Amino acid sequence: MCGIVGYLGEKNTKEILLDGLKELEYRGYDSAGIAVLQNKTFSNYKAVGKLINLEEKTKDFTTKDFAVGIGHTRWATHGKPTELNAHPHVGENSYVVHNGIIENYVELKRSLEADGVKFLSQTDTEVIVHQFEKNLKIEKTAFEAFSKTISELEGAYAILLVTKSEDATIFFAKHGSPMLVGINQENEKYFASSDTPLIGHAKEVNYFEDGDYGFVSNDEIAIFSKDAKKQKPVFQAISTNRLSAQKDGYRFFMEKEIYEQSDVIADTLLGRLSEDAIHFDELDPAFFDGINEIKLCACGTSYHSALTASYMFERYAKIRCSVEIASEFRYREPLMCKDTLFVVISQSGETADTLETLKMAKKAGLKTLVVCNVDNSSMVRLADACILTRAGIEKGVASTKAFATQVTVFWMLSLYIAKLRDTMTSKKLAHQIFLLRGVPGSVKVTDTMHERIKRLSKRYLHGHGFFFIGRDVFFPLALEGALKLKEISYLHAEGYPSGEMKHGPIALADPELFTIALLPQHLLYEKSKSNVEELSARDSTICAISAIEFDKADDFIQINQCEDYMLEFFQMMVVVQLLSLEISVRLGNDVDMPRNLAKSVTVE
Ligand code: G6P
Repeated sequence: MCGIVGYLGEKNTKEILLDGLKELEYRGYDSAGIAVLQNKTFSNYKAVGKLINLEEKTKDFTTKDFAVGIGHTRWATHGKPTELNAHPHVGENSYVVHNGIIENYVELKRSLEADGVKFLSQTDTEVIVHQFEKNLKIEKTAFEAFSKTISELEGAYAILLVTKSEDATIFFAKHGSPMLVGINQENEKYFASSDTPLIGHAKEVNYFEDGDYGFVSNDEIAIFSKDAKKQKPVFQAISTNRLSAQKDGYRFFMEKEIYEQSDVIADTLLGRLSEDAIHFDELDPAFFDGINEIKLCACGTSYHSALTASYMFERYAKIRCSVEIASEFRYREPLMCKDTLFVVISQSGETADTLETLKMAKKAGLKTLVVCNVDNSSMVRLADACILTRAGIEKGVASTKAFATQVTVFWMLSLYIAKLRDTMTSKKLAHQIFLLRGVPGSVKVTDTMHERIKRLSKRYLHGHGFFFIGRDVFFPLALEGALKLKEISYLHAEGYPSGEMKHGPIALADPELFTIALLPQHLLYEKSKSNVEELSARDSTICAISAIEFDKADDFIQINQCEDYMLEFFQMMVVVQLLSLEISVRLGNDVDMPRNLAKSVTVE
């Protein structure tokens, strides 16, 4: 995820910016840059890859005395991780850094290009600096030009901008992406997108509210709210604990990552949806020529997203699809046909078993595709084609946001292939795209929901086991819910197809057997309900998750009414993640680093 730093003061600006960026490294990034304005002259450096590359490039650049500077670490979402796409982005006399998404950048860019502006990057960010400079020519002051620019932007952002026309000032704006400013007795001003870079430098910080914008100079911190009313900064002491600052106030990385899902799914959709088509710039449509079957292969959570994908590929793209556990596939002498597209899925891109199956498929001459969260990982380098999920770095061992973005990619990919194979009417495709746009909203965690799950969790700390049950895509979700619970609570849990319980597991039913029932309103509701009733009749303790009230359950977690089963899928995904988290917390376990598990398993 991207990170921002800014500095206004008399100390070594270059070092302060680079140190600040280092504190943001844990968020993950693939390029970085700084711009420093001193004595009316800009110095700008950018580098792809780790910060050490930027340090190397700036080793002969020194700063002393007063300067203003901004810096950025970029996790590529719109445009590849290249130097040109790295921030800060330049106009004629100004530089900008930005986190978030400018949703109306295409329109702004078109109109700027019509005015003769030349764009250097593929990013949405670059429009901000050009729009500002356009406004600077009309407005009386740089601040008025900046305010006008902000009012023209749609989307989510945290922005810092510096310009020669006011060379001792940093302009800022915040809407939907975090940012704060810190001060100390030496009259220095520090900006950052999270606490960590400010620890040890600033004594007090002001967290900007959505809609805040303004400027900071030597004498002033001017904050305006979205209705242009001047605000007083509200300073508070900054945390001194770096680890807790990295968690942005959440108790655990896993919790933070569950809450981040809405943003990372929005990033994953970015630039890939139009009214009537899905776009994967990274894929050549001819790649799918001659393909009659898809085989998906993965481990752990990624295997569950692959299973989910198989339902969508067959349902929407009408293409035969099978799913394999990588460690099994490797040794069972599988038959591989050249008309099969071999797809591996991996958060890390390094899991040994999955990587080996990719090598096998390549050796057998199959076309290969990887869906992965880490650019330049072994699988990304090896596969013929790659779609990157944009979950940002995932720290919790129990995967959450990576799974969410994988399923999002597969939903898009099934529609992309449906269009290529002409298996869906354009009206239906347009509706599916409309639904996809609802995913970021559907995974937002509300306080009411989280509090309810927290309270319920105390009733599920004992017993002789859990069954998570569901049908269709809710079966892989049941597997994923059970895996989350096992991983961090160490309680026994299984995921099972609802209709299969009567063929054996129902023998276990008693009040000490906990059934977590996924009951989507828009997919096989009556059938799933009957399966739950069978368990209820045999006295299993039941926690139902549904949009429709269900009186046969002991506990009930209500999700919002929505119009499609996939939106119910995403809502229920958040519920099972939070339930596992809260049970684990009550049991006093280490949520982020559960016993015996590793984040990336590079042994077979
Ligand atoms: C490990 C992790 C799991 C993950 C699995 C596959 O077991 O603990 O959370 O799902 O590896 O990892 P991958 O990086 O290939 O998705």
